[in-house]
Amino acid sequence: MQKIEIINISKSFHKTNNESQESLILDDISFEIQPGSLVNILGPSGCGKTTLLNIIAGFLNPTKGEIRFDGEVINGPNPKRTVIFQEYGLFDWKTVLGNIEFGLKAKGLPKNKRKEIAHHYLDLVHLTGSENKYPNELSGGMKQRAAIARALAVEPEGLLMDEPFGALDSQTRNILQDEILEIWQTTGKTILSITHNVDEAVYLSDRIIVFSNPPAKIILDININLPRPRFPEIRLESKFKDIYDSVWQILRKEALKSKFSKTIR
Ligand SMILES: Nc1ncnc2c1ncn2[C@@H]1O[C@H](COP(=O)(O)OP(=O)(O)OP(=O)(O)O)[C@@H](O)[C@H]1O
Ligand SMILES: [Mg+2]
Repeated sequence: MQKIEIINISKSFHKTNNESQESLILDDISFEIQPGSLVNILGPSGCGKTTLLNIIAGFLNPTKGEIRFDGEVINGPNPKRTVIFQEYGLFDWKTVLGNIEFGLKAKGLPKNKRKEIAHHYLDLVHLTGSENKYPNELSGGMKQRAAIARALAVEPEGLLMDEPFGALDSQTRNILQDEILEIWQTTGKTILSITHNVDEAVYLSDRIIVFSNPPAKIILDININLPRPRFPEIRLESKFKDIYDSVWQILRKEALKSKFSKTIR
């Protein structure tokens, strides 16, 4: 199992209206993610969460700093770290089974082995019976389950998720939260996820990290010491509510600052 180290990461982008000027988005961010843990990052819109995830995935280079995965510096995408994006990223022209098998084919596995692994993950995400459907025949929740199965099938060490349940209604979101917890507990994967939803972050996580407005710094980094396995009733407990409130207050204050700065600019 692998540890992720985010070491002094800064990222600047050129301003769209002035190529010679740069905006600093991530400002010297450092933290470590322990193997097998489930961490959520929260922060105001535009603070650089997706940017950091893309750097960890190897899709983007940092301006400064480095990311290490089990001691090895990341310098490009790698199937050891798969990403689940909000838009699911499924291939519309392939069935659910075809989507799940895709990464396995790229790994060079023979057809019978691909089928066996794909069916295992179909079952894990409760999609058995829908394997021959195309993405446009699936609900949002089913698409998200298919995307999770596809990501897990290649047996990554780390799963990176960018607002994985953001597009779903709250009922489906709650069901999938429980499913992802079950999958996490069964597989022992390291999960780094981004969300805007404080309730989801507290419910799922071992640890929550909150970013400030850009240039983003870490303004909160707390362990969530709620017992596991977690069940929906935990939301009614005062300990859950206290953690929720403390995270929400910090996030709200930060989001208001950015709203205020836009008003006076
Ligand atoms: N390729 C790029 N070129 C220029 N600017 C970029 C690029 N990618 C992101 N940005 C800028 O960097 C900032 C952070 O973007 P990012 O998508 O990481 O934010 P975020 O925290 O994920 O926001 P949200 O919560 O809305 O998804 C934004 O101001 C965005 O416009
Ligand atoms: Mg984002």
